[in-house]
Amino acid sequence: MADTSQKPNTKGLYIKTYGCQMNVYDSERMRDVLKPLGYSPVDSPEAADLVVLNTCHIREKATEKVFSELGRLRELKQESGGVLRIAVAGCVAQAEGEEIMRREPAVDMVVGPQSYHRLPEMIAKLSRKTGDVLETDFAAEEKFDALPKTRDVDGASAFLSVQEGCDKFCTFCVVPYTRGAEFSRGTDAIVAEARELTRQGVKEIVLIGQNVNAWHGAAPAHDGRGGEWGLGNLIRHIAKIGGVERIRYTTSHPRDMADDLIDAHRDIEQLSPFLHLPVQAGSDRILKAMNRQHTAADYLRIVDRARAARPDIAFASDFIVGFPGESDADFEATLQLVKDVGFAQAYSFKYSPRPGTPAAGMQLQVAEQVKDERLARLQSLLNEQAQAFNDATIGRKLDVLFSRNPRRDGQALGYSPYMQSVHVDGAAHLTGHMATIEIVGATMTSLKGRLVPAIAGALA
Ligand code: SAH
Ligand code: SF4
Ligand code: F3S
Repeated sequence: MADTSQKPNTKGLYIKTYGCQMNVYDSERMRDVLKPLGYSPVDSPEAADLVVLNTCHIREKATEKVFSELGRLRELKQESGGVLRIAVAGCVAQAEGEEIMRREPAVDMVVGPQSYHRLPEMIAKLSRKTGDVLETDFAAEEKFDALPKTRDVDGASAFLSVQEGCDKFCTFCVVPYTRGAEFSRGTDAIVAEARELTRQGVKEIVLIGQNVNAWHGAAPAHDGRGGEWGLGNLIRHIAKIGGVERIRYTTSHPRDMADDLIDAHRDIEQLSPFLHLPVQAGSDRILKAMNRQHTAADYLRIVDRARAARPDIAFASDFIVGFPGESDADFEATLQLVKDVGFAQAYSFKYSPRPGTPAAGMQLQVAEQVKDERLARLQSLLNEQAQAFNDATIGRKLDVLFSRNPRRDGQALGYSPYMQSVHVDGAAHLTGHMATIEIVGATMTSLKGRLVPAIAGALA
């Protein structure tokens, strides 16, 4: 199977990533872990010696995708004469590891989100055909300590995982079971990783965690004042590292929206005026049944506080429609909250009952057709808001970080401070840089811009 054009000791690695930003980060780190063993990324499973599916368990559809992909890989493995190795990682591995091993014999390894630093020993066991090749322990600290200190990054923007796991136990959600208890990485390790990223030319650091704003850690020794830091202080500290032009963080929980974080939006120039703060629903009754631990009014208060600190801050959210017991009136309350806030972006989903979660066993499950209708109404409102938000940036000059690879036709692709995707024709040379762009067009999902000529700026 190995591509003969490769150097003798290199092996092809293909990682397919599903789910959230945590999985994107984990996939990158798996590449770092496997690099010393001679694995380097290839573009297709056909060119690979090892395929890793980094999976998501959040909704039923996400999980189904994994089993259908495994069916395809089984055939590929047969064609390779059994040489191709298949690993399942991520949240489905954690939740259904043994079931996967039983149902799909083509799978060689199952590795949970806190165990992928053990991939080298798992691969060794596999070649010796000894021992267990299922690793689903929860040991976040051990994992981070064991991961390589260097990172192979490509591009101007990079994720940095600061917090993992979740203790909130929203009644619909599998994450507390697949990712384990809330864990904050140590301040020094995070700062060291941020420096490593800037050393490699990264300009935007995206701090990530399932509940990133629950992050807390000891102030570093040189701070002198001691005590505990929250995410706001961490952001202030990272902003001082040379080369950091932009900082973002995602995803936040309303309960953990502390003052120091809101103040950071007022004080830190590099911190994007963008807040992804999932609310899920607008009815207090449903929020309570979801165990979100806040009301709609609490959410609106946070929005007001954040806007007072940074008037142009843009909001994004996640929504679930058709949670068990959701009445028409409850759903109307969600629409009302959307109107009250005015979102720049949003993700909305039909409630999907997940095995082992309290909501899956609740009475009054909502009919699929009702969920469809509510989702369509909600999305049409959210789409209108996204369009209005994007339209309002036409004519403005925004700093765009061109962090994505340009398109073949030379179009440069990047993000505005409000996380809008921006494209500029014939400007591939901007890739990897931040530039001031005049916005000349907008759709619901992206902006079109043009370079502001330096001379025009100077004459103005
Ligand atoms: N930690 C984040 C979200 C993690 S999951 C938070 O607390 O907001 C990402 C999103 O998936 C959630 O915000 C929610 O909107 C959606 N989601 C989670 N479980 C779901 C389920 N059972 N059915 C439908 N959507 C779900
Ligand atoms: Fe899931 Fe709730 Fe935790 Fe978010 S806060 S990961 S929705 S349990
Ligand atoms: Fe999915 Fe796991 Fe992320 S369930 S959303 S990949 S934490």
